[in-house]
Amino acid sequence: MSVTAIKEIIKMLENPSLIKIKEEEKEVLENGDIVLKRCEKCGEIIDYIHEGYTMTRDCACMRSYRVQARLKRFQDLSITDRNSKSDIFSNSKKITNAEERAIYEELYNYANNFNISKKGYIFSGGVGTGKTFLANCICNQLSEKGFSVLSFSLGAYFNKIRFSTDEEEKLIQAVKDVDLLFIDDLGSEYINRENGKMWGEEKIFRLFDERYRTGKPILITTNLDAGEIKEHLKVKGVDKIYDRLKSECKYREFNWESKREVLK
Ligand SMILES: Nc1ncnc2c1ncn2[C@@H]1O[C@H](COP(=O)(O)OP(=O)(O)OP(=O)(O)O)[C@@H](O)[C@H]1O
Ligand SMILES: [Mg+2]
Ligand SMILES: [Zn+2]
Repeated sequence: MSVTAIKEIIKMLENPSLIKIKEEEKEVLENGDIVLKRCEKCGEIIDYIHEGYTMTRDCACMRSYRVQARLKRFQDLSITDRNSKSDIFSNSKKITNAEERAIYEELYNYANNFNISKKGYIFSGGVGTGKTFLANCICNQLSEKGFSVLSFSLGAYFNKIRFSTDEEEKLIQAVKDVDLLFIDDLGSEYINRENGKMWGEEKIFRLFDERYRTGKPILITTNLDAGEIKEHLKVKGVDKIYDRLKSECKYREFNWESKREVLK
C-alpha cells in the first residue's frame, strides 16, 4: 500500500464523517441478509440485517486503518530510524560475492513469506558490512505487508527506561505484542555490572525473557561473534539468554569488506 493511500485512510478514520456511505435501496443477499449501508470507497457492506438483527461490520478501509494504526504505534515506539525510503531490497547494490547473495536471497524470501512463528536471525560481522541495511530492508518489507516491527538498540532502550518504569512497561508490552522485534547493534551498549549492580543484566534478561515467551521472532545485528554474544549476555554469570537465543535464531555471518568505503 502506498504512503498516500495510508495517509488518506488515517485522515479518513481520524474524521469518520469523511467516509461517505451510500444509503442503498434495499438489497437482499443470497442468504437473505438485507444490506443497509455500503462503503462508497471500497464497496463492502457496513450495515445489514441478519435474521432480523441489524449488524455492523468493518469494511476493508476500516480494517486497513486498524492495521495502519497498529503499525504506527510500534513505529512511534521504535527508537532506530529504519530508513523506510532507502533501505529497501530494490535499492540493494554491491552484492559482490556468492555468500552474500545467498544471504540476501534467503532473507528476501524470509521477508516475503514471513509469519510470526518463523525463527529469527542474528547477523554477525564487521563494521559496515550491511547488517543494519539488510535488517532494515526486512523490517520495511514487513511493514509494507502489514506486519508490525519494533526496533531499537539496547543502549537506547536503557536510556528510555532508566528513569521511568512507565516507559519500561510500555516498551515491554510492545515487545510482547509486535510481530518482529529488531535489536540493532547488540554489544554496543554498556551493561553495568560493577559493584554487584545488576540493573542492566536484569533489564536485558526481562526483555529477552518476555519476548521468548511469545514465541515470536527476534532479529539482531551485532559486531560480536557467537562466543562474544554468549559472554556479553550472561546474567549473573550464566548464559541463559544466549542459550535460548541460539535455538530461536538462525546465525548468519557477514564475512566481507565494509561497504562504507566501497560505496563512497
Ligand atoms: N546491499 C546494499 N546496498 C546498498 N547499500 C548498502 C548495502 N549494504 C549496506 N549498504 C550501505 O553501506 C553502509 C554500511 O551498511 P550498514 O550500516 O548496514 O553496516 P553495518 O553492518 O550495520 O555496520 P555496523 O556494524 O557499523 O553497524 C550504509 O550506508 C548502508 O546504507
Ligand atoms: Mg549497523
Ligand atoms: Zn471501505
